[in-house]
Amino acid sequence: MTLPKIIIGAQWGDEGKGKIVDFLTENGDYVVRFNGGNNAGHTIVLNGEKFALSLLPSGVLWKKRLLISQGVVINPEVILSEISFFTKRGLKPQLTIDPRVNIVMPYHQWLDAATERSKGSKRVGSLKLGIGYCYEDRNNRHGIRLEDLVEPKTFREKFLEEFDLKAKRLRGVYGFRVLESKEEIYRKYLAFGKKLKPYIGDVSKILSGVVNKKKVIFEGAHGTFLDANFGTYPYTTAVNTITGSVFSYTGIPGQDLDVVAVVKAYTTRVGGGPFPSELFDDTGEFIQEKGHEFGTVSKRKRRTGWLDLPMLRLSNRLNGFSTIAITKLDVLSGLRELKIVTGYKLGNQILEEFPSALKDVKKVIPIYKIFNGWESDISRIKKYKDLPFECKKYIEFIEKELITPVNLISIGAERKEIIIRS
Ligand code: GDP
Ligand code: IMO
Ligand code: MG
Repeated sequence: MTLPKIIIGAQWGDEGKGKIVDFLTENGDYVVRFNGGNNAGHTIVLNGEKFALSLLPSGVLWKKRLLISQGVVINPEVILSEISFFTKRGLKPQLTIDPRVNIVMPYHQWLDAATERSKGSKRVGSLKLGIGYCYEDRNNRHGIRLEDLVEPKTFREKFLEEFDLKAKRLRGVYGFRVLESKEEIYRKYLAFGKKLKPYIGDVSKILSGVVNKKKVIFEGAHGTFLDANFGTYPYTTAVNTITGSVFSYTGIPGQDLDVVAVVKAYTTRVGGGPFPSELFDDTGEFIQEKGHEFGTVSKRKRRTGWLDLPMLRLSNRLNGFSTIAITKLDVLSGLRELKIVTGYKLGNQILEEFPSALKDVKKVIPIYKIFNGWESDISRIKKYKDLPFECKKYIEFIEKELITPVNLISIGAERKEIIIRS
């Protein structure tokens, strides 16, 4: 029996999960998105063409079975446009969406924008796509589920009630006047529901029949340090991102998984919040430019920093890495020296692991180990042994420190730019 695989972002998101999921899907039967919303942006590059996915699982190019489980929140317009894009290209997604998924409504987006504005310098850096507010409604039982969207009477009742409540909140708390017509929004969303109806199916039930028989790949969104509980709260997203969340978000029982941790060869973060190894110099800019570190969805510049082992140690403890896929190693080529954070100083203490309290995360001083860089372009290398000596040293240090094998090394955005090391 092959274990179900889960692909997890080990840092602050954008580690290259989309690329790794696409690569692994060749040997998969089902690809399951289980968390988050269209604030995720997963990129696949195939023969020079770029595909950015926000909701569709990254197995779409392989024509495999795609599932979206109840842990996800859906913006119907976004999923429908992704479905239509691939259908027009002859790749109609074989997709099933759980009826329990919650629907992101326009008022969620208005609330997101209004709160971010009112928070001023304390803003999270949200993508303002309404994801946090949709989860708020879902958790507090105000949500509109896909099953409601396809029932005109139920949807109308729930929608009108919620719309009025939200409009009052927006006006009273934030001075935001809703100008859009609720009847128009109702009709628009009802039409979305009609189009989504054929895709509805009980994903939890489908999974229970196949999870230990077929090759199932769970595609994590966001990253470990954006986890709503274990991340750098409140500078996180509003959902869980760590391995264990897959069970409650898909409805399969807790079991062994093959956990593929996607680790970018350096660290990036978009939006606000502390970032101990952040670079504010030319090297940071070099990495930002060479790595095209711009948000896939937001187009914002990503902040850059060195690889951080205290972060990855905590990530490993939370997620239980089976193997590591290192990505974007090619971006580091050409740097004279590289650094890895091996620990933190916090007052008189030395920490091996990322601290739990935000006040400490803000205070830690990274301790660095310096590595020699390598000059040559590595993006065409096929075999591990052919990588420059310094590059192998960098990888093997990470592997030794995290006591986890690095089995995949991504050296370019294209599907084929990857070294498999068994
Ligand atoms: P995700 O959110 O984890 O799926 O990552 P994103 O797709 O948001 O961001 C990763 C970016 O890096 C995308 O533009 C990818 O095409 C690109 N990428 C992925 N792996 C590599 C790699 O090994 N090298 C380079 N240069 N780019 C990569
Ligand atoms: P993928 O799946 C990087 C960040 C946002 C912001 C914070 C809260 O592509 O790795 P939200 O929209 O949830 O209110 O934003 O979380 N964020 C991400 N950063 N990659 C992501 O997803 C992210 N999803 C959310 O930038 O700081
Ligand atoms: Mg992304």
